[in-house]
Amino acid sequence: MKFLSIEESNSQELESLLDLAAEMKSTRGTTSNQPLAGQTWAIIFTKASTRTRVSFEVGIRELGGNVMFLSGNDIQLGRGEPIKDTARVLGRMVHGAVIRTFDQEDVEDFSSYSGIPTINALTDKEHPCQILADLLTIQEKLGTWEGKKVVFIGDGNNNMSRSWMWAAKYLGFEFVVAAPKSCLPPQDFIDHLDAPNVALITDPAAAAKNADVINTDVWLSMGQEGQDEKEALFGDYQVNDDLLSHCSPNHIVLHCLPAYRGKEISEETLEAHANTIFQQAENRLHVQKAVLATLVE
Ligand code: CP
Ligand code: NVA
Repeated sequence: MKFLSIEESNSQELESLLDLAAEMKSTRGTTSNQPLAGQTWAIIFTKASTRTRVSFEVGIRELGGNVMFLSGNDIQLGRGEPIKDTARVLGRMVHGAVIRTFDQEDVEDFSSYSGIPTINALTDKEHPCQILADLLTIQEKLGTWEGKKVVFIGDGNNNMSRSWMWAAKYLGFEFVVAAPKSCLPPQDFIDHLDAPNVALITDPAAAAKNADVINTDVWLSMGQEGQDEKEALFGDYQVNDDLLSHCSPNHIVLHCLPAYRGKEISEETLEAHANTIFQQAENRLHVQKAVLATLVE
């Protein structure tokens, strides 16, 4: 009934979602299977979005459902109505909800108070749908994540890095986070994660050594705009040709987008790997259709 984090997932769930996503991708437009027929879903976002909003709107419609987009600023939530009241109202009217917001607690509260299927479309803590798309892209490009070295360069304590660390724990691949010291995940998170296959370092070149996958993300996540002192820490952490010279010859580069060229990734590197990066963006649609179909089973 809910897909709120990779932390709360497990290897079996991740693998079956990815199998279904691959099948849905290959049969797109040729199947009459509409598991959301007769349903109306709400998409409630209090942060900006291009990929997530469009892929969920298209995905819900392709699965036979109706969809309404509710901007946090336009509904009473933006004027202070509690999430638990919003949830109890919508839970009586719509069949499921996709939520993008700041606090993980808000998606959890929405899920429990509404009683309807709820999907986390990004919080400050996790971005689980993005990680599914990234894993599908690795499967498509490299065949498997087994035995691969996957590296995250950037803000090691952000939603992407945290979701990736849980995926690495459950799926068992080597995962290295390279970030400035103050942007590595704190010790209590690492203790809680308890994953010997996850390493944290501050040296991006050492992290990139023999890497199969280099993954990056914005240095300042939504809500952190204007934190110039934080941004200044990342000068040595750009994904560019120099950094990629340390990788395995068949490496791929992932970026969840939007990208800030000249900051976390160079223009040349993004364009050289555009084929993979935009395939990764497209995969949002396929993995989220798998999540939607699975939640209403
Ligand atoms: N990657 C991602 O979530 O993109 P949007 O912010 O455009 O939805
Ligand atoms: N870490 C980024 C991801 C954007 C898709 C953010 O939260 O803004």
